[in-house]
Amino acid sequence: KAMPGDSMDKPNIVTCTAPVNIAVIKYWGKRNEELILPINSSLSVTLHQDQLKTTTTVATSRSFQEDRIWLNGKEEDITHPRLQSCLREIRRLTRKRRNDGVPCLDLSCLSHKVRICSVNNFPTAAGLASSAAGFACLVYTLAQVFGVEGELSGIARQGSGSACRSMYGGFVQWIMGNQDDGKDSLAQQVEPETHWPELRVLVLVASAERKPVGSTSGMQTSVETSCLLKHRAESVVPGRMAEMIEAVQKKDFPTFAELTMKDSNQFHATCLDTYPPIFYLNSVSHQIISLVHRYNGHYRDTRVAYTFDAGPNAVIFTLQQHVPEFVQVLKHFFPPETKREHDVIFSYVVFKAGPGPCVVEDPTQHLLGSDGLPKKSM
Ligand code: DP6
Repeated sequence: KAMPGDSMDKPNIVTCTAPVNIAVIKYWGKRNEELILPINSSLSVTLHQDQLKTTTTVATSRSFQEDRIWLNGKEEDITHPRLQSCLREIRRLTRKRRNDGVPCLDLSCLSHKVRICSVNNFPTAAGLASSAAGFACLVYTLAQVFGVEGELSGIARQGSGSACRSMYGGFVQWIMGNQDDGKDSLAQQVEPETHWPELRVLVLVASAERKPVGSTSGMQTSVETSCLLKHRAESVVPGRMAEMIEAVQKKDFPTFAELTMKDSNQFHATCLDTYPPIFYLNSVSHQIISLVHRYNGHYRDTRVAYTFDAGPNAVIFTLQQHVPEFVQVLKHFFPPETKREHDVIFSYVVFKAGPGPCVVEDPTQHLLGSDGLPKKSM
């Protein structure tokens, strides 16, 4: 039996999961690199965590000598600036809550070192690795450990911009805000995941032969060189956000789909307008775009939409009733057997919209042992 005083050394351990999100109005470009403040608002759909999620365990103990982090089984550098921003901001929020008289957990843990262990349930190589799910999970789990609740998207934003949208389920907007300190640049749920149950998201994993230019550096070059991006942020996105929110609220699929495709195309156009240009789409992506337009044209109805982020993987939005037929069409044009170097879709996964981050109550699911080291089974 534990002796009094032993409890001081017993680690406080919490495990949580967080979802991936897919933007239908894209975030591309920062006005402040340090605080991660965007040049335009954006809107996304949170994917259900049954197939894609990040799981993170955070442990704090008086006996830990230093902060450490393991990602997908490998120890990583804890001094990473964005990681440090999240740790600093959570500790600051905890102190602030205490000073405001909000009861929170044992404050001694504020001085304790943390151990962080995080895994994705999908292979990083598939190009589905998401810094959004990772930072959302980190911030949510840290907040649980320190006993702080409430608005956390402003902290997740400082890990990775798109991470702020993974702090909520369903349909989420990231309002750009206009303050210099970024206090008003936050995510907000537009509709919960239960709002549009027929909506489906197909993630098509295409071959990624080269590692594309990362979002952070890509958008930096775009801000510096693309006048199309400036036009997009100032004159296109504000109107598009309003139309998109209305389409989501009305569950108007054709409008939602058309705006999604146009916004993906404009984002990739700004990449092409960047100097030197950035190419995220490959020949498979172009074939998928044509296929979607031919399919919709055939039915004289917008039944399917595509969107692409900073890589060649396609994400398809459609309604439940069209999934089987569209999957058949995809299989016909991209048969799994074909081993043509570029024209391959390796796999696809069908999603519904899903909830935001969750606490995992079962202690056997912790990724860290009470010694603050990753469990052997990892
Ligand atoms: C194309 O959030 O990864 O996926 O803020 O620099 O970490 P940083 O960038 P990140 O950018 C995501 C860009 C995008 C569009 C989107 O998700 O809105």
